[in-house]
This record gives sequence, structure tokens and C-alpha cells, in this order.
Amino acid sequence: MQVLQTQIATSVLPETPPTFRVGNIPVYGDAILAPMDGFSDWPFRSICRALGSAMSYNEFTRAEFIVNAFEHIATRFTYDEAERPFVIQVYGDDPDLIIAAALRVQEMRPDIIDINMGCPARTVANRGAGVGLMRTPLKVARIFQKLSTLLDVPVTGKIRLGWEDNRTYKLIARIVEENGGALIAVHGRTQEQGYGGEANWDAIAEVKATVKIPIIGNGDVKSVADIERMKAHTGCEAVMIGRAAIGNPWIFSRLDREQVTPEMVRQMVRQHLERNQQFYGEHKGLILFRKHAMRYLALQRLPRVTRTKIILQNDAEGFLALLDEAYVG
Ligand SMILES: Cc1cc2nc3c(=O)[nH]c(=O)nc-3n(C[C@H](O)[C@H](O)[C@H](O)COP(=O)(O)O)c2cc1C
Repeated sequence: MQVLQTQIATSVLPETPPTFRVGNIPVYGDAILAPMDGFSDWPFRSICRALGSAMSYNEFTRAEFIVNAFEHIATRFTYDEAERPFVIQVYGDDPDLIIAAALRVQEMRPDIIDINMGCPARTVANRGAGVGLMRTPLKVARIFQKLSTLLDVPVTGKIRLGWEDNRTYKLIARIVEENGGALIAVHGRTQEQGYGGEANWDAIAEVKATVKIPIIGNGDVKSVADIERMKAHTGCEAVMIGRAAIGNPWIFSRLDREQVTPEMVRQMVRQHLERNQQFYGEHKGLILFRKHAMRYLALQRLPRVTRTKIILQNDAEGFLALLDEAYVG
């Protein structure tokens, strides 16, 4: 089952003009959950989307796996209709494999296919994939030229600033646009910065001024005020929020962590755990939920010993009972 049907209602009326378009795809809203490997799965994405994230990017998937082992990874492409626009992200270093992979995942009926040019992990970047692609502009041109011709859906790119000695962000943005790309998401850091230091919002503004296609700004949006701050600073159409959404998906409803009540957290923990177990099965669903639970619970500043006791529960009933106790007691 690749496309789930759920009851999540979209809060935007169809008559409302879109905030921006990705090719022919209208997008309503200006804050979007970032693709995050290990986090942006159906349970978390669908929760963020229902709370106001304007579109759904899934976790990146390696082109080789899509082409050679699709049946083993097909669940990665599970989404529900209420998540649309749904974006499938692919990474790789070989243009032919990326093209074959994009054509294969297009069969899952996403609205958009995105090429990852941002992953800084050495195992990815040093072989020319992720941000490694930003060192090879001709390859990027070839990938986008082919994909924009062959695909029925828009193709987009997610970039970084490049490398400290080779900051190709403006060049790559122009290449993406000139070769049919429909949108660029820019994470304002270099490969060397990884996820540390400060994101450079001036560079995002430079990309915005360089191309006409919509730009999503990304990096260090940590609060509701940051959403407007980044938009004002860069002129970007929308912002992408990664780490700050873990433990606070309410940011997409324009609520900062301090504004979220303990009762809202308790209900969210139940809902998220339920979706995790629906998706991954009872045991695996609980285990994979721990990393989210840590972030939800840290939110309410429970004593460390209480948190640890809750997290280490091996069954959902015990987990939820302790949670209730912690909140009541
Ligand atoms: C755990 C984790 C996994 C990530 N996985 C992906 C990914 O699969 N694809 C991608 O384009 N970016 C990925 N990123 C990068 C984020 O999309 C985003 O660009 C980055 O976290 C900066 O945004 P933030 O400051 O709001 O967290 C990942 C980041 C983290 C922290």
C-alpha cells in the first residue's frame, strides 16, 4: 500500500490563491517540513502537514537502491493524499542512474521529484553525490536538462552553498533554472559547516536575486518569528524547517515551544506513537518513536530520571501509562 487514505483535513480552501507554484503545482503556505533522513517518514510528515506544513518532502533515497532494489525500499515512498504536494527526493552521482531512478519513482505518483545536492556526509559527498554534485556543474546541467524533458512532474533541487573553496551556489541555481528546474531550496551552509555554525541568510538572498523560479530558504529557522525574519531577509517564497520541528511540529501552526501546553504534548505523543505503530508495526513503531518522544518530553522539562524511565518502556501501554502518571503526578 503506497498511498494511504486518511482523514486529515487540509485547512486551505481551494479558491485561495496559492502562495507560489512549483511548475504547475500550487503550494499554499510558506513553512515546510525539511526532508530529514530518519525523521521525515509518513507518521511525522503527515502530522506536520496537518498542522500547516505546506508540502511534504520525503527522506532522500539513493538512486542505486531505487533502480536495483525497489521492492525492498518501496515503503519509503508511502504517503497519503492529504500530504500533496508530495515530493520524492533522490540522491546520486551518476546522471543515468538518477534519471532511471526518477522515472521509477514517478510511478508512485508524487507531485514533484527533487534532487539532493546538499548532503554533506563524506560517504555521500566525496563520491560526488549530495553536495558533491555542486562541484560538477556540467553534470547538474545534464541531470536537470534530461529530467525536465523526460518527467511528467516538475523537477526541483535542494542545494547548499557549495564548498569553502568552491561556493557554487549562484552558478548551480542558474544552471538548475536554465535547465528546467522549477524550484530551489537553499540550505545556507557549506559542506564543511555540516549542521554547525550559523546559516548564511545573505547567500540565500543572493540566490533569490539570481533566479526567477521560487526559492525556499533553509537553515536555523528555530521559532515562529524566524519564519518571517528569514522571508523578510531573503525574499524567499517559503522557509523550510528541519531540526526545530522535531518535538515541535506545532511550529507549522505558528506556535513556539513555550506556547504548547502539556495536554497538547500528551495528545500528540499518543497520536504520533499510534501512527508509528500503524506504519512500522507495534514493536518497531515504539522503538522508532523514542527519538521523537525524547524531544516531545524534553519540551515539558520532566526530570531526567522520569524521562528515561518512560523512554525505556518496551510496550506502548506501559509507555503511555507512565506518561500519564508523569503528567498527572
Ligand atoms: C537528521 C537529519 C537528516 C537529514 N536528512 C536530509 C535528507 O534526507 N535530505 C535533505 O535534503 N536534507 C536532509 N537534512 C538537512 C535538512 O533538510 C536541513 O537542510 C538542515 O537540517 C538545515 O535546516 P534546519 O536548520 O532547520 O535543521 C537532514 C538533516 C538532519 C538534521
